[in-house]
Amino acid sequence: MEKQWYVPISEDLEKVDRNIADVLRSDRPELQEMCDYITSSGGKKIRPAMCILSHYACGGNSREEIRRLASAFEMIHIATLVHDDINDRSEIRRGRRTVHEKYTVTKAVILGDFIFAMGFKLFSSTDRRIVDAVVDASTAMAESEFIQKEFEHRPVVTENDYMRIIRGKTAMPIYACARTGAYLAGADDETSDAVSKFALEVGLAFQVVDDVLDIIGDHRTTGKKIGIDIKEGKPTLPIIYAMADPEKGSKIKELFGKTDMTDDDMQKALDLIKGTDAVDRCFTKARSIAEGAIPRISSLKDSVHKDSLAGLARYVVSRDK
Ligand code: IPE
Ligand code: IPE
Ligand code: MG
Ligand code: MG
Repeated sequence: MEKQWYVPISEDLEKVDRNIADVLRSDRPELQEMCDYITSSGGKKIRPAMCILSHYACGGNSREEIRRLASAFEMIHIATLVHDDINDRSEIRRGRRTVHEKYTVTKAVILGDFIFAMGFKLFSSTDRRIVDAVVDASTAMAESEFIQKEFEHRPVVTENDYMRIIRGKTAMPIYACARTGAYLAGADDETSDAVSKFALEVGLAFQVVDDVLDIIGDHRTTGKKIGIDIKEGKPTLPIIYAMADPEKGSKIKELFGKTDMTDDDMQKALDLIKGTDAVDRCFTKARSIAEGAIPRISSLKDSVHKDSLAGLARYVVSRDK
């Protein structure tokens, strides 16, 4: 299976890369260099894929417009990653030094703002409803990141708290990708609701797996350092489950509560978490969310794009990067 779902839109996704490179232009040589640095690092392009597939699966055929919309979503995503890496003190992203590590924090903040602005510029000529959906998703993302900060290093975080955070920070933007793709296809409300709810659930499953990969991933494949969430005290689902373990939970809580965690503490916490059933439970949960999402699009007309949407849902929970 793996990335077979990608095939029907491979040309569209290549065009997304070219669009982004064309749009991200600056007269400042170093800013240009930074743009090229981040855009040439690759990425899975889940968000543009969701946008384009939803559009085609809802019967749309506005090739140029959907590619532009998808490019804008990817740019907003890239901008958030640049800022997120500053907040998370991440050193490696997509197998390379993060922007702030290579060019300083100040310049990375500016780069993120620049890419955000350029991304929004791509939306500006579109319909008001599309702009609204993007603004809603972007504000939900910011607010959820804020809530997440309030939960850092706290030993009592519930699964509900977690689901609320990841809904805003990860699932809402993916929801907006599908919703605007469907809207641009002229889909009726029922169809548009179906595909966007599907995307929301795929987004939730996607983040659960991202959080699991922080524990059991291979940095050579994920392109990120392992254990960052633990070190930063992020209340992720595997950590929440592990803290509830009757045997190892209290020690994990104690380590998780430390705001000055050393690499040694982090390694200890990682080993303890791996000794619980937390990772298995997260996979079970992520797979059940993703499988539960697929019937939501059953009413769409059969097409390769509809099949690819289902493939995408399965991919996000089977991926190792
Ligand atoms: C990383 O997103 C941020 C999360 C919401 C987990 P991706 O894993 O989609 O990042 P790239 O674009 O593929 O590098
Ligand atoms: C991503 O969450 C949050 C955003 C919406 C940018 P993570 O912090 O888990 O993403 P990674 O692991 O750094 O890619
Ligand atoms: Mg991060
Ligand atoms: Mg992560």
